[in-house]
Amino acid sequence: MPTQTQNPLREGLTARAMPDPCSLVIFGATGDLTHRKLVPALYNLAADGALPPAINVLGFARRDKTDEAFRQELEEASRKFSRQSINDELWASFGANIGYHRSEFDNAAGYASLAKRLDELDATRGTRGNRLFYLAAAPDQFEVILDNLRASGLSTPKEGTWSRVIVEKPFGTDLPSARKLNDLVQHAFDESQTYRIDHYLGKETAQNIMVLRFANALFEAMWNARYIDHIQITASEPLGVEGRAGYYDKSGALRDMVQNHLLQLLCLTAMEPPAGLDADSIRDEKVKVLRSLRPLAGDDVFKHVVRAQYGAGAIDGKRVAAYRDELNVNPESETETYVALEVNVDNWRWAGVPFFVRVGKRLPKGGTEIAVHFKSVPPVLFRATGETIDDNVLVIRIQPDEGISLRMSAKMPGASLRIEPVKMDFHYGTSFGKATPEAYERLLLDAMSGDPTLFARRDEVEEAWKFVDSIHAAWKTRNDDLAFYSSGTWGPSQADDLIKRHGATWRRL
Ligand code: BG6
Repeated sequence: MPTQTQNPLREGLTARAMPDPCSLVIFGATGDLTHRKLVPALYNLAADGALPPAINVLGFARRDKTDEAFRQELEEASRKFSRQSINDELWASFGANIGYHRSEFDNAAGYASLAKRLDELDATRGTRGNRLFYLAAAPDQFEVILDNLRASGLSTPKEGTWSRVIVEKPFGTDLPSARKLNDLVQHAFDESQTYRIDHYLGKETAQNIMVLRFANALFEAMWNARYIDHIQITASEPLGVEGRAGYYDKSGALRDMVQNHLLQLLCLTAMEPPAGLDADSIRDEKVKVLRSLRPLAGDDVFKHVVRAQYGAGAIDGKRVAAYRDELNVNPESETETYVALEVNVDNWRWAGVPFFVRVGKRLPKGGTEIAVHFKSVPPVLFRATGETIDDNVLVIRIQPDEGISLRMSAKMPGASLRIEPVKMDFHYGTSFGKATPEAYERLLLDAMSGDPTLFARRDEVEEAWKFVDSIHAAWKTRNDDLAFYSSGTWGPSQADDLIKRHGATWRRL
């Protein structure tokens, strides 16, 4: 019998070989993502000894800059944003892998010189012709970058080497634009070379959802409509639009967070056990969930979806401005910064179990969690005591304080029968005694190792857009349904009404 790791069909999440030597080329390297996330993640991988034995990191961007200046600004950013503090010696050896390639995105000569430079680096540094291209530029530049990668031959791997592309979000703004982008990507790279980022999939606790469900006899047996009353998925942030109005005011919470991160969490929570741990078996199951979502369209949208925008208020005792008064936001903006939805998964397992999904900015507290609310026990045995019995709730905390807790009922010590809720709580930090890696660390490593399990496949992205687009289409027909909430509160009362109709209330994080 082959063991799981010997069977290539069962690799995927289990494959953890050292990645091949390679060159990583970041397009849009002078931007925020490179400074805050990508390079700090690479440094942490270096600190953990997880990077391949040879690696080149080349920033490709339009600004004039020397290799040395680029390295220096990345060092400063890493000192600010890295999970582990920077060790000078380690930075010196890691930083030596970094270079800068100046070019316009539409200049063919810039790609020809990139190809030449990469070949030279392969010869001098042993990176063996493997290439990983990271599209971190503004989305309107993706087309020209992809065209040039194809035309210059960089997207076609030479014999015995590989070439891959990572595409940052937003992956389109609706279904037609996502399809168009998929076509563009696939003109240059085939699906097996394509890695679409959804950084929530790289979060350690998101990966733990499958283990919790399928490695514990206890939960899976009850993971269905017979025992579960409803599920709440929440992502709340105290942050506002934070200078990203140019993007966010056109996007809004539904497109920014629900289409990708929240639907991914819902899929991992709702999917059937996959045939194996390989990327496609898992992604097949997630796509089935997306195809089972009851479409929300027309009048149903106004019954099952609440959209709202933050007004002025206070976060942590500090006054903050209304969304419409934020820099570069249209003062009459109708963009939602909060959305709450009742989603139904119309399949055998979940018939009649609503998933309440909410996401918002300028809420009192930051946190992402999945709360599974079990059905009540029959109201017979303890009725005479007059005690109320809280239902069992299993909470998967995606962030912060990653962990899992279970609310149960227990007898309070004493002569009378008093029933109180108690909590069994597992914290990653204390149980495993080490900090959880950042999502980008895991995702960069997986892309270098050729494991696309934690990246979205073409059909996943397109199915998710289909669901979200019909909500947007309904919103366009009305302009009187946008609710408002004060910053620092838990969203509009309409969202409370939405869940109250099911006899439930939102959890306080
Ligand atoms: C991004 C969104 O994808 O995710 C942001 O564009 C949001 O608006 C962010 O703030 C949240 O990510 P995290 O990892 O901080 O929960």
